[in-house]
Amino acid sequence: MATFTKHSEDDEGLPHATKKTMADHLRKFEALFNMTPQRMRMIVEAFKESLEQGLAKNGQIVPMIPTYVFGWPSGKETGMYLAVDLGGTNLRVCLVKLEGGGKFEITQAKYRLSEEQKQEDGQRLFDFCAECLKAFIDSHQESGLIPKDEVLPLGFTFSYPCSQERIDHGVLIRWTKGFGAPNTEGHDVVEMFRKALAKNSVPASVVALTCDTTGTLIASHYVNPKTRIACIFGTGCNAAYMERVRDIPKIAELGIDPDTEMAINCEWGAFDSFEHENLPRTKYDQIIDETSNKPGEQAFEKLISGRYLGEILRLIICELIDEGVLFLGQNTYKIEIPYSLDTAFLSLMESDPTDELLMIIGIFSHFFALETTLAERQFFRALAKLVARRAARLSACGIAAIVSKMGYLEEGCAVGADGSLYNKYPKFADRIHEGLQDIFGEKGKNIVTYHAEDGSGIGSAIVAAMTKERKDANIYPNY
Ligand code: BGC
Repeated sequence: MATFTKHSEDDEGLPHATKKTMADHLRKFEALFNMTPQRMRMIVEAFKESLEQGLAKNGQIVPMIPTYVFGWPSGKETGMYLAVDLGGTNLRVCLVKLEGGGKFEITQAKYRLSEEQKQEDGQRLFDFCAECLKAFIDSHQESGLIPKDEVLPLGFTFSYPCSQERIDHGVLIRWTKGFGAPNTEGHDVVEMFRKALAKNSVPASVVALTCDTTGTLIASHYVNPKTRIACIFGTGCNAAYMERVRDIPKIAELGIDPDTEMAINCEWGAFDSFEHENLPRTKYDQIIDETSNKPGEQAFEKLISGRYLGEILRLIICELIDEGVLFLGQNTYKIEIPYSLDTAFLSLMESDPTDELLMIIGIFSHFFALETTLAERQFFRALAKLVARRAARLSACGIAAIVSKMGYLEEGCAVGADGSLYNKYPKFADRIHEGLQDIFGEKGKNIVTYHAEDGSGIGSAIVAAMTKERKDANIYPNY
């Protein structure tokens, strides 16, 4: 039963839930979002199995995509490259000058993608990429940065699961992160992008298609050779690592030397999709899944990535509104709008340094026209922590699965990580590290995540450089 009391801050006499009511509810959510070390270890085991299945056969839940990025960069890669990065939120075009020895220069422009663009015809989306690239090249030819009459090699970072038969090919398996552009799934996105480049007479030639995680793996290793794994924790989430070809049974028939190494784009956001056997899904997670444009898919990502964390908290708040616990007598229509509570708000809630939690007052009054009491604000902050901590601990499970599969624990390794959640959410990295220790004990300290190099820009350019060098040297030229 919810009880209400008048609070001293509450000028208009609106009924607010008591501190005790909030504490009771909090206990319930603590139980729901908590993950014990034992539970985490069970998830790691199931995760490992899924990774193995993905390497063994095509069409598995976790796709484990061979990327045709052969081994680590030498650090001596040089030259001028273009990079186009179609991520979850923005389109970015870059000019990268690789100078060798881990050094580079980058010039870039960013364009925000509208919600409509994410849903319009796929070819139109690639045309937009080509048009932005054309404008970028034109302006830098004017400034003298890009030589005229030269066709520059281009790395295309397309951060959605694509199955590849060679490095400049990728058939989109499924859109993620809320994208839904028709006529793209099942098509080769490199071909679509090349068509758009030709239509707009853009002087650029696509050399390699990469995912942000593969780019991050390569760029991070370029500057920190201890890097073995790369992760993205942003609008979406994913990981990449370097695998021995002999351990990728599904490409055995290609005749690639089994001792060669190849980067694997795990697409781990798909872990536990459809079957939902291993992950701790609450009813809020189920609502997010069922109301998404891709029900059943990206089960792991939906518990972790920045696109969804704010929504999880919003759904909890809405339930408590419906139950008459929160905001009685106030107009709550604004917070009832799906996805109106951005994950960036959670991050502000957790980082609010004031005793009165003034930032949280601001968020609720400014964006949702709602008054809050201190007890409620403390409750929201505690909830934000529960949701974000679960995300970080699940992320630790994914990292632990790769570490344990590859036997990196004893020797230790560095994990390059990037994305808004990792970079901006307070304590996200600390919570991953804490999770790794809960899974592995003391030895978990051997696995250290760090803020990675820009994978989709620099990484993509390095991959393009590596590919050019490889093909010029006639090494697996058809891949
Ligand atoms: C995509 C991955 C990508 C990740 C992070 C996921 O939704 O499927 O390809 O690496 O988001 O951007």
